[in-house]
Amino acid sequence: MKIFIDTANLDEIRQAHELGVLDGVTTNPSLVAKEKGVDFKTRLKEICQIVKGPVSAEVVSVKADEMLREASELIKIADNITIKLPTIREGVIACKKLSSQGVKVNMTLCFQPLQALIVAKAGATFVSPFIGRFDDQGEEGMKVIRDIRTIYDNYEFKTQILAASIRSPYHAVQAAEAGADVATIPFNVIEKMLFHPLTDIGLKRFLDDWNKAQK
Ligand code: E4P
Repeated sequence: MKIFIDTANLDEIRQAHELGVLDGVTTNPSLVAKEKGVDFKTRLKEICQIVKGPVSAEVVSVKADEMLREASELIKIADNITIKLPTIREGVIACKKLSSQGVKVNMTLCFQPLQALIVAKAGATFVSPFIGRFDDQGEEGMKVIRDIRTIYDNYEFKTQILAASIRSPYHAVQAAEAGADVATIPFNVIEKMLFHPLTDIGLKRFLDDWNKAQK
């Protein structure tokens, strides 16, 4: 499973990149708004200088022709920009046009398998089902990943399933078990993915034993 970081914060991106296992970045308008006073295009350029994998840049228009206009500006920023479009009627129209031109598209705000079927037919590179937002409502978010995996495998669609709205390490485990191609993960969860208390206790014991034996 590829690991993307879900943030527009440069410090978090740098730290995750240093690990050497970061495959890409996703941003959205809410994440960019959290970076107070930052110019969107400047920030995307900075991110693309750090990470060479796909960097998702989301449009804010809701009409296909305006989405396409925004996309034409965003793809000029760097070769690894992926255009993120909402999974609505107009988004699908724009997705078909962009993917036919060879532009990578990430279809976001996907909440049901039939949306995923349609965006795959429209040539999307990624589809982003939102796991955490289902769980927030008392529904099982991971089910949609499993359903999309079955449909894509049945028909050999190449669209990659990008598990989004990941809130915990357990979500990341479940996404990997369900066969998601990618999980986009917030920085605090990436940090937790590396932690186990027994690793720290075990390491301390090894080093203590080693140091005692040296005396
Ligand atoms: C990423 O592509 C999504 O926009 C993001 O994962 C949404 O996460 P949230 O539900 O925690 O806002």
